[in-house]
Amino acid sequence: MAKVFVTRALPGDALERLRAEHDVTVWEEALPPAPESLRKAVADVEGLLCLLTERIDAQLLDAAPHLRAIANFAVGTDNIDLALTRARRIPVGVTPDVLTEATADLAFALLLAAARRLPEAAAAAKAGEWRTWEPAGWLGADVQGATLGIVGFGRIGRATAGRAEGFGMTVRSTADTDLETLLAESDFVSLHCPLTDKTHHLIDAAALNRMKPTAILVNTARGGVVDQSALIEALHTGTIAAAAIDVTDPEPPPPGDPIFDTPNLLVVPHIGSATRTARARMTELSVENLLAGLAGRPMPHPAP
Ligand code: DGY
Repeated sequence: MAKVFVTRALPGDALERLRAEHDVTVWEEALPPAPESLRKAVADVEGLLCLLTERIDAQLLDAAPHLRAIANFAVGTDNIDLALTRARRIPVGVTPDVLTEATADLAFALLLAAARRLPEAAAAAKAGEWRTWEPAGWLGADVQGATLGIVGFGRIGRATAGRAEGFGMTVRSTADTDLETLLAESDFVSLHCPLTDKTHHLIDAAALNRMKPTAILVNTARGGVVDQSALIEALHTGTIAAAAIDVTDPEPPPPGDPIFDTPNLLVVPHIGSATRTARARMTELSVENLLAGLAGRPMPHPAP
């Protein structure tokens, strides 16, 4: 029986399977453990089930000398120093596939919401500004016939493409077009690449300048893929028409962040995988990864 630390209470009942075999402690607070508390909590653990809110870096690994297996409750791994875990031979597991459809749904929901200006229209209705049916009121962008440019054509990018085809859009992606052309020729751009050194600030001021002034940017990948200050500026100056983002940099944005005062910007709190089924399946995959890692077996869903 190994000591395991889980950095938050998780949906579904799969943690029971972990408890049946190991000595499991769950951080029950609503907010994640601060780095110092996490370092204390892992001092004697062999297994760690962590979230994207935890940084798994040298300091953390140094504080966990017995750590033998890490399960990340996410498909993204930008919170983990994988070069270091590899060097220390600590296997890392992730949660692919089970959140693909939920995240693609959210990308498309954001695209539609921004195209048809749902947040502003709903706020106006609530504020008593719906005085009559207005022939030129709340005009938005057409989705049918528009071009969607997908940056990052992995599982979630492809699932988003499938939805776009159902809506009569023309789909292009970085798998078949270079980024500059994709940005210049798309009416909507949806980001689906992982955050790496290469994709950090991939969408910067120059990239935003290449986009059409009518274009709408959707980000369900990671906040760091976009230079957020450049995006805010682009929306203030009308370089692009709108953006709808599930991810920010940092997360959450601090109170008073200009992101909350930017026109034509819809921000939701990193809810791409937030369906009951996807999150319960993420718990299951995390537990399967950790059980395998602790048993010395290959994890069924290893980090790439
Ligand atoms: C992930 O899995 O990387 C998402 O961002 C959270 O589900």
